[in-house]
Amino acid sequence: MGQRLKNIEQKVRNFVSKNPKLTILIILVLIALYAFISIEALHFTSDPGFCQKCHPEQKIGPLSEVHTWKKSAHAAAGVKCLDCHGDPGFIGYMKAKMGGLYDVYGEFLKSPEHKMGILKLGIEPKHASKIAPSKTCLFCHSDEYNQKIREETLIMSPIVSFRKLDGVKNPDFRKEAKLNDILTEAVKADIEPKHKSHLDKGLDCTDCHIGVVHAGQYKNKTKMQTCFDCHDKMKPKKAPDNNDCMACHKTQDSLIPKEIITFGKGDSAVKFAHETHTAMFKCKICHAKAFPMKKGATNIIFADHGKNKVCFSCHNGKKAFSYTDCKSCHAKIATPKDINYKITDAAPVNFSHEFHTAAFECTKCHPNIWPMKKGTKKMTMDAMYEGKFCGACHNEKDAFASTDCDKCHIEPKKK
Ligand code: HEC
Ligand code: HEC
Ligand code: HEC
Ligand code: HEC
Ligand code: HEC
Ligand code: HEC
Ligand code: HEC
Ligand code: HEC
Ligand code: HEC
Ligand code: HEC
Ligand code: HEC
Ligand code: HEC
Repeated sequence: MGQRLKNIEQKVRNFVSKNPKLTILIILVLIALYAFISIEALHFTSDPGFCQKCHPEQKIGPLSEVHTWKKSAHAAAGVKCLDCHGDPGFIGYMKAKMGGLYDVYGEFLKSPEHKMGILKLGIEPKHASKIAPSKTCLFCHSDEYNQKIREETLIMSPIVSFRKLDGVKNPDFRKEAKLNDILTEAVKADIEPKHKSHLDKGLDCTDCHIGVVHAGQYKNKTKMQTCFDCHDKMKPKKAPDNNDCMACHKTQDSLIPKEIITFGKGDSAVKFAHETHTAMFKCKICHAKAFPMKKGATNIIFADHGKNKVCFSCHNGKKAFSYTDCKSCHAKIATPKDINYKITDAAPVNFSHEFHTAAFECTKCHPNIWPMKKGTKKMTMDAMYEGKFCGACHNEKDAFASTDCDKCHIEPKKK
């Protein structure tokens, strides 16, 4: 065995000393071949098709990352997995490839539950910022970072292109892709995300853009609730109030519900038009103090009229026409039921709304004589004789007198 090896060694020595130039050539070819195979391997293992072997599902959620990516705006623009899942530059790329070794290790040496456990972490903003770093997003989406990172980092060889990211040079790339610089320009949506001030506060893209690629729609927007959840937690409050709509929404018009909102049913129903009101008021005047932002959530009753709440916080005769101006809100008003009074020392009294409203407007009695709630004022006969309550009319002049006891106090008929 040892003898045979020695023989081969001797033959190689002889060949090298006889053909020094050819040897160098062969070595160069071997190196090139090795590099070629390695690069091909890197390319092959970077392709979404390769990732799909272990991330194969065709739904939304963990394991479906390739499927969801295919439907994203990024895929349409040729931005692939390792363009986001890795730092920019040569080292970043190699680190991402090393991370791939963990994937292989996890696939074959750990349980499927372990894999799902890891993948489910993806929707946690902090974890997501490690696998899709903000630095990488900024490399494409801003000029300042692109230039800074290009200066500081060893960018991959211009001869071999490993991924789109490393060829990105702003502002050229941005302009060609028709992208705004997110740090210096407004976004196209009707929202002001204050990209710069949030990033200065240490936020990551994934704090707001979870799902930008893997949430399963073609274009995935940030959700308003995401903003609220974080702003709500802040103490002391420096972020805008949730009800300060215009702190984030650039134009009010697009938000105003066009549809008329109806309270109640039938003839007595009340119509509320956003359009007339939003011409005078900001959303936050009504939301969320007076009304939640959901149709049908508010229950307005008779007793609310005249109080400093719901519609009547304005419709009080000062800020807007008074609540006593019933007809401006109610086209018609259903006649309320009779009111029965049981009295200890006298026969009961029945007050008929039906009878009285045939002759009088509601406002003849409400709210001057009676507030908009039964039982608010204690009625006595003495007060009536002085012209209060029923006595305001039952004074012998306008209607029979308050001393005409049995016209009001009527013994129930015994069966
Ligand atoms: C051999 C199977 C396999 C292939 C191929 C594969 N993955 Fe994975 N991937 C896994 C497993 C298993 C995990 C769970 C990782 C762990 O166990 O730490 C994972 C996790 C991930 C994660 C989440 C890592 C984390 O820490 O949350 C990302 C991102 C990812 N893979 C991207 C890719 C991309 C991009 C490709 C293609 C370039 C790819 N994977 C190819 C098996 C694979
Ligand atoms: C534009 C950037 C971008 C591209 C391109 C991209 N991803 Fe992601 N990826 C993210 C972000 C951001 C997250 C964080 C979780 C989320 O948004 O749902 C993520 C999360 C993941 C996860 C963690 C598990 C999960 O579902 O949340 C895996 C695995 C993954 N991506 C694989 C891939 C693969 C495979 C590709 C290519 C087919 C790809 N990604 C392309 C940005 C990207
Ligand atoms: C290689 C460059 C590149 C990288 C890296 C990249 N993007 Fe993009 N991004 C683009 C391009 C190109 C578009 C335009 C797609 C189109 O035509 O609408 C885009 C579009 C977007 C959009 C708007 C369209 C949509 O899908 O909602 C958002 C938001 C976005 N990127 C966020 C991110 C985030 C967050 C990251 C990091 C996780 C990221 N991008 C990483 C190039 C990149
Ligand atoms: C405070 C939340 C927040 C953070 C953090 C954030 N964004 Fe955005 N971003 C938004 C909102 C809101 C929009 C507009 C609505 C939408 O497209 O979802 C937007 C829009 C975009 C767009 C579309 C730009 C256009 O002109 O329409 C891109 C690209 C984008 N963001 C990239 C990023 C990148 C990259 C990061 C991280 C460096 C980031 N964003 C961080 C909230 C945020
Ligand atoms: C993870 C936390 C977090 C999330 C998510 C978040 N914000 Fe903020 N926001 C902050 C912090 C912190 C400040 C205070 C910044 C300061 O102190 O100036 C702030 C302040 C703001 C301001 C006022 C600051 C200024 O520069 O005028 C606006 C507007 C704003 N956020 C919009 C948004 C929008 C829109 C979203 C959702 C797309 C959002 N934020 C999501 C943390 C968050
Ligand atoms: C902290 C920022 C912020 C504030 C404050 C805010 N919004 Fe939003 N709003 C958003 C974001 C982000 C979206 C999603 C953007 C997109 O879809 O492009 C959104 C979306 C909406 C939508 C579209 C439907 C939906 O739910 O996605 C309506 C309607 C809306 N907002 C109304 C309001 C009103 C009314 C107010 C004031 C009471 C308000 N918003 C306050 C950030 C905010
Ligand atoms: C600013 C508008 C407005 C004015 C003015 C107004 N109301 Fe109302 N009223 C409402 C609304 C809104 C409701 C709730 C309707 C519903 O849900 O059925 C309501 C409810 C009622 C109800 C209860 C209906 C029920 O089914 O429970 C009565 C009774 C009523 N109003 C009587 C009056 C009378 C009498 C006046 C004049 C003194 C008046 N309203 C003036 C807006 C108004
Ligand atoms: C004068 C008061 C007032 C103002 C100002 C106002 N709203 Fe409303 N809004 C209401 C009332 C009342 C409702 C219905 C509440 C109920 O039925 O409980 C409502 C309901 C809504 C709803 C739910 C609609 C539905 O179909 O479920 C939205 C969305 C809304 N408002 C948005 C806005 C926006 C955006 C603004 C500012 C541009 C605004 N509102 C300003 C009084 C107001
Ligand atoms: C923030 C104050 C405010 C609140 C709350 C408010 N209104 Fe008004 N409303 C006004 C003002 C101001 C006007 C116009 C001035 C006037 O006519 O006195 C008006 C006008 C109206 C009109 C006549 C114009 C039109 O749109 O047809 C109706 C009807 C009306 N309001 C109904 C309601 C009802 C019903 C509610 C409760 C669901 C309500 N308003 C809540 C301030 C308010
Ligand atoms: C002639 C006087 C008079 C007129 C006109 C009148 N009411 Fe009344 N209303 C009363 C009296 C009296 C009460 C009971 C007050 C008490 O006991 O405190 C009452 C109580 C009510 C109640 C409360 C009922 C309950 O069970 O809590 C409603 C609702 C009501 N009126 C609505 C109306 C409406 C709507 C109109 C016009 C269509 C109207 N009223 C016209 C005298 C009148
Ligand atoms: C705004 C004036 C006015 C007020 C206030 C008023 N009434 Fe009358 N009422 C009348 C008139 C007018 C008649 C019919 C003329 C007559 O019979 O003298 C009448 C008739 C009646 C009748 C006889 C018809 C029937 O319904 O059987 C009764 C009983 C009655 N009222 C009870 C009351 C009681 C009880 C009150 C107080 C809770 C009251 N009224 C308050 C004006 C009023
Ligand atoms: C116009 C209708 C009307 C007439 C007429 C009338 N009452 Fe009354 N009476 C009432 C009403 C309404 C109440 C209050 C019921 C309640 O609030 O529980 C009342 C209450 C009473 C009470 C109990 C409260 C108190 O003041 O002590 C007595 C007792 C009473 N009446 C006796 C009489 C006698 C006696 C007469 C005739 C001299 C008379 N009433 C005439 C409507 C009338």
